[in-house]
Amino acid sequence: MTTTLDGSAPPARTYDVGGSDEVAERGRLVVTLGEGTDAVTVGVFRFRGRLYSYENVCAHQGGPACQGRIVSRVRERLDAEKRSLGLAFDDDEMHIVCPWHGFEYDVTTGRHPGRPDYALRAVSVDEEGGRIRVTV
Ligand code: FES
Repeated sequence: MTTTLDGSAPPARTYDVGGSDEVAERGRLVVTLGEGTDAVTVGVFRFRGRLYSYENVCAHQGGPACQGRIVSRVRERLDAEKRSLGLAFDDDEMHIVCPWHGFEYDVTTGRHPGRPDYALRAVSVDEEGGRIRVTV
């Protein structure tokens, strides 16, 4: 993204990125906004009816995290003595898995569940009148 002549960031712009029906529950939409050096690619996700949006740049090495698999969190089930009962999907958490090296991000926070210092950059998203708008 460019800066202005005085070194400040350019003003935020709001884009209509599509209809509400284009992002189903547990689904996503990846769009590139702007042009040239100002272009930004973002992912928009829906989980439990709410939208979340992040810049499509993995905090690990810059991979296209928003284009990776969408999966439920995997948790290890333990008995009373902390012995493993195997792994199970936890549908209460939805993760995005970066396709380059597998870093996962909680879609509601944008943070890696085990390393919260690794996070996607959140982007403002809202929905009104059946349309989705993103501000970058
Ligand atoms: S760049 Fe995303 S996991 Fe490495």
